Amino acid sequence: MDINGHQVLLDPFISDNPLAKGKIQLEDIKPDYILLTHGHGDHVGDVEGLALANGALVIGNFEVTNWFADKSCRVMALNIGGKHKFIFGEVRMLSAVHSSTMPDGSDGGMPNGYLIKTTTSTVYIAGDTGLSMEMTLIPKYYGRPNMSILPIGDTFTMGYEDAIIAAGLVECNKVVGCHFDTFPPIVIDHDVVKKAFEDKGIELILPSINQIFSI
Ligand code: NI
Repeated sequence: MDINGHQVLLDPFISDNPLAKGKIQLEDIKPDYILLTHGHGDHVGDVEGLALANGALVIGNFEVTNWFADKSCRVMALNIGGKHKFIFGEVRMLSAVHSSTMPDGSDGGMPNGYLIKTTTSTVYIAGDTGLSMEMTLIPKYYGRPNMSILPIGDTFTMGYEDAIIAAGLVECNKVVGCHFDTFPPIVIDHDVVKKAFEDKGIELILPSINQIFSI
C-alpha cells in the first residue's frame, strides 16, 4: 500500500508463492513498514529479507515481532485492542479468529486484523479469520471502512459466502478479496464469487499479481 507516499507492506509471501514466481522481484519492493497479521509461513515468508534490506519497521503482535527482533529486524509490537499513530496513519490491532504458529513451530501469539485510519480513508484488514461478531464493533465504534480486505478462499479462512456477511457486519461495500487461488484447497471460481458479491451490491476486487488500484 502507498499511503501518502509511505510504503506499507502487508504479510509478504512472494519467494515461495507459486502465483508470484517470476512476476515480482523482491528488489523492486521497498517497504517502509511491514504489517503482519500472524505467524504462518504464507504471511511472513519474505519479512526478514525485505525488512533487513530496506530497514523497514516490522509491526505485529508481541510474539511475532519478538521472533523477527531475534533476526535483527526493527520491530514494534501491538496487541489486540491497542492502537498507535504512525506517520502514515493510525493502526488499530483487532482480533481475528485463526491460529498463528511461526514457520519454525514456535508460538506466534494471537492472530489479528487491523484498522488503518489515514487522513482520507479507513481500511479494514481482516487477516486470516473466520466470521466473527467482533466485526460488528468496527462500524459501531471506529467508523465504517472505505475498503475491507477480506479472506475469501475457504478451507483455512472464511469462504466468500461468509465474507459477504462480514462486509455487511463492517458496513463496507468495497471489498478486496485475499487468501485465494494460491494453493489447490483455496482455488475459487471467480465468476461465481464475483456474481455473489454483485448480487448483494458489494464491489469486489480480485487483484491479480501486480495489479494496482486506489481506494
Ligand atoms: Ni494463516
